[in-house]
Amino acid sequence: MDRIAIIGAGNVGGALYRSLKGVVGEDALLVCDTHEAQLAKLGARHAFREADAAAREAEAVIVAVKPQQFTVLAGSLKTPLGGKLVISVMAGVTLANVARALGAAATVRCMPNLGAQVGRGATAWIAAPDCSPAQVGLARSIFRATGIEIEVHDEALLDAFTALGGTGPAYFFYLTELLAENAQAMGFSAEQSRVLAHEVLSASARLLESGERSAADWRRAVTTPGGTTAAAMQAFDEHRFAVAFRAGLEAARRRSADLSRG
Ligand SMILES: NC(=O)c1ccc[n+]([C@@H]2O[C@H](COP(=O)([O-])OP(=O)(O)OC[C@H]3O[C@@H](n4cnc5c(N)ncnc54)[C@H](OP(=O)(O)O)[C@@H]3O)[C@@H](O)[C@H]2O)c1
Repeated sequence: MDRIAIIGAGNVGGALYRSLKGVVGEDALLVCDTHEAQLAKLGARHAFREADAAAREAEAVIVAVKPQQFTVLAGSLKTPLGGKLVISVMAGVTLANVARALGAAATVRCMPNLGAQVGRGATAWIAAPDCSPAQVGLARSIFRATGIEIEVHDEALLDAFTALGGTGPAYFFYLTELLAENAQAMGFSAEQSRVLAHEVLSASARLLESGERSAADWRRAVTTPGGTTAAAMQAFDEHRFAVAFRAGLEAARRRSADLSRG
């Protein structure tokens, strides 16, 4: 059984621990955080305060600290990581930089999203050519434990994924906020507006999940020619909603690429 060390038990590391626990079992997981409180929250059976001690005992090491904490972490790892799979979740830290800082060859870089906190994550990832097929398989199974996974072979696609899937939940939260704001502006109470907006979002997600129709098909199904949805869609087109949305995605992708360049 491959043991997996998770270094950094914050939002992402904690979500990974909770998802993986159900798949590989507690004994295969070693969790490390400099904060006792973070470890206590997870109640992990194998908890470490020193990253080096956790990494030493594991076949795979997941680096889930903030990018600005990475240099200090790398300096503290004395165990040779050459033969281990190293998975980085750090935004904006390239595969080459992870490999160089840790002296590791079998490196994987991934970009998870918020959905992992509720077991519905979307993760894009890329494996360095030095990963063995078994290591690639292990990485894939780790990501699958948290939701869907998308393997890419061009690191630049991680910036695109960051704009689409990483930032993605925020776009739907934004639409939900706008719906609630406009409900209030049209005369509903704040509470009615909040409930209305949340229900519209979650019912739409449920309908999509039913698998009965694609998003486009559901939209067409509720759009009667000359009706209210058609009027809204026409106004969106006139105000170039799709163009504004695309500009937002491009801005996020550029920002992600800029952060990766440092
Ligand atoms: N949050 C997201 O939705 C998201 C999405 C995609 C990618 N990411 C990436 O995921 C990484 C983690 O983000 P996060 O939000 O989970 O951060 P976080 O909540 O701050 O978790 C990181 C944890 O690691 C601990 N830590 C720092 N240095 C350590 C060391 N040397 N050894 C052991 N533990 C150490 C931190 O302790 P301290 O309290 O001392 O800092 C903290 O508890 C980041 O690199 C981020 O770019 C995050």
